[in-house]
Amino acid sequence: MIKKHYEFSAWLRITHWLRALSIVILTATGFYLAYPFLSASHSGGEPVNFLYALSRSWHVILGFLLIAVTIGKFYLFIFDKESGKERASFWDFINPKIWFKQIKYYLLIGKHPHGKGVYNPLQFLAYVGIYVSIIAISLTGLILYVHVYHEGLGGFLYSFMSPIEVMLGGLAVVRELHHIFMWVFIIFLPIHVYLAIFNSVYGKSGAMDSIISGYRWDVEKKKH
Ligand code: HEM
Repeated sequence: MIKKHYEFSAWLRITHWLRALSIVILTATGFYLAYPFLSASHSGGEPVNFLYALSRSWHVILGFLLIAVTIGKFYLFIFDKESGKERASFWDFINPKIWFKQIKYYLLIGKHPHGKGVYNPLQFLAYVGIYVSIIAISLTGLILYVHVYHEGLGGFLYSFMSPIEVMLGGLAVVRELHHIFMWVFIIFLPIHVYLAIFNSVYGKSGAMDSIISGYRWDVEKKKH
C-alpha cells in the first residue's frame, strides 16, 4: 500500500525553484561577465547592442531575486510552523548513529535511517554550506554592484559595503571571491540533482515529487 504524506509547504517549494532558477541564470550570465567571449552583432562598426550591459542587468535582477528569496527562506526556516520538520533535522545532524546509518545507505550496505527531520546529516551539512556560499556570493555581489551603480540603492548601500570590501582585501579580491564561489554552485548542482534522483528511485519514496507537489509517499509492507 502506498501512503502519501505532506512534506514541503508551498512557500518552501516556491523559494526552492526561484533559488534554482536564479542560480542557473546567474551562473550563465556570470560566466559571460567574467569572460565576454561573444560580441553582439552590430551595423556600421559601432558596438551599440551592449550585450555585456544586458547580461549584467539580468545578472543584477536575478541577483536581487536570489537575495530576496534567501531572506524569505531564512524567515521560513526560523519562524514557519510548517518548516518545523526542517529545523528538526538539526537533531539528526548532531546524532552520530544517524551519520553512520546514512553513510552505510550511500555505500549500498544499509537501509535509509529514520531521523526526526526531513534531511539526513550529510544533506544538512551540504545545505548549510550552500547557504554560507549564497551569503558570501550575495555580499561580494553587492560590493561589485555598488561600484557599477552609483545612484539609488547602489549609492545607499555604498557606505555599508565599503568596510566589508576593505576587510576582504580590496575590490580585486572581492571579484575573485565572487568568481570562486560560483564554482561551489557549479560543483554542488550536479551532485544535488544526482542524489535527489538516486534517493527517489533507490529509496522509492517520491523524494523528487515532494519538492514539486509537496507530497512524499511511503510503500507500506502488507502484514500477513
Ligand atoms: C549564484 C550566484 C552568483 C553567481 C554564480 C555569480 C557569478 C558572477 C561572476 C562569475 C561574475 C564575474 C566576476 C569576474 O569578473 O570574474 C559576476 C559579476 C558580478 N556579479 Fe555575480 N554572481 C552571483 C550572484 C550575484 C549577486 C547576488 C549579485 C548582487 C546583486 C551579483 C552582482 C554582480 C555584479 C554587480 C558583477 C559585476 C558586473 C560587472 O563587472 O560589470 N552577483 N558574478
